[in-house]
Amino acid sequence: MSITILGIESSCDDTSASVLRDGVIHSNIIATQTVHMAYGGVVPELASRAHQQNIIPVVDQALKEANITADEIDAVAFTRGPGLLGSLMVGTSFAKGFALSKNIPLIEVNHLKAHILAHFIDDLKNTYDHPGFPFLALLVSGGNSQIIIVKDHSDMEVIGETIDDAAGEAFDKCAKVMGIPYPGGPVIDKRAKEGNPLAFEFSRPKIQGLNYSFSGLKTSFLYFIRDKVKVNPNFIEENMNDLCASLQYTIVDVLMNKVKRAVRETGIKEVAIAGGVSANSGLQNAMKEAAAKQGWKVYIPQLGYSLDNAAMIAITGYFKYLKKDFVEQDTAPFARMTI
Ligand code: KG4
Repeated sequence: MSITILGIESSCDDTSASVLRDGVIHSNIIATQTVHMAYGGVVPELASRAHQQNIIPVVDQALKEANITADEIDAVAFTRGPGLLGSLMVGTSFAKGFALSKNIPLIEVNHLKAHILAHFIDDLKNTYDHPGFPFLALLVSGGNSQIIIVKDHSDMEVIGETIDDAAGEAFDKCAKVMGIPYPGGPVIDKRAKEGNPLAFEFSRPKIQGLNYSFSGLKTSFLYFIRDKVKVNPNFIEENMNDLCASLQYTIVDVLMNKVKRAVRETGIKEVAIAGGVSANSGLQNAMKEAAAKQGWKVYIPQLGYSLDNAAMIAITGYFKYLKKDFVEQDTAPFARMTI
């Protein structure tokens, strides 16, 4: 029997819809909100309004691109959390209304688990290499930095996480110090390619076990820049590439050290990266290097499936559909949902 799932994602500042048929992604439409760029970060109220405007056109386009009608959808999966409450409410309300009108099951999805399960996506153009259970996931985004043992599609154990800022926040906040607009992570990545990663040294956290901390690095970066600019007002412009390369080198090194430790402690050598920061070329190279040197098998998601997207919601929904793991119409978003 053919199973067709509509996935809906609206947790932060991307409105996305995806159609999956029999485990294969047929469309993945993402409308990224640009309204936040002027504010240095996502403005929750503006994000909710933009989702409200985007959701119907995005779903329409996802159906059209998949060449599938609304009546052919067997279930609708939506991001229940974590995320911005107002943003989550738009996707949740749409999904509930759609399920009710078509009399089909409703499936709630944990956004963080979905980032990890994106590694099980195949699409009409490609089939990809999927990890085998158990594997380790490094989940790094604007809101999370976690190391997770993934035991199966639903059973996941967090064995390390940040005690303050996330890796993506460290990228974005340090970028802001250099005058780079939000989100600064991708710009730092680009500029880092032209710079010397050993030009400057920034303080590294000394945190026990498998946990992370990035707030000290951010503060040391801020003070370093402030002191240099006092002496030379053009310091940032003159050293932008080296600053970006050194900062990225430090963040990636901090991330990798704990992943290496997690591999040693668990004996699990399959490692997948997930979340927005997994798009970082420095992190991807460090992973590939570890794979070559330490005999790991590493999994790096395609860009369209690593940033916030509904394909990962649809694939997670598909696994839950197979287990008949449905929710009722009284479900509500949960902004602080955890793994
Ligand atoms: O998972 P994601 O799309 O959503 C949220 O967490 O909201 O991650 C967004 C984060 C931002 O902090 C952004 O700067 C970071 O991912 N990011 C990157 C790169 N691409 C996105 N950071 C470093 N290098 C990149 N290439």
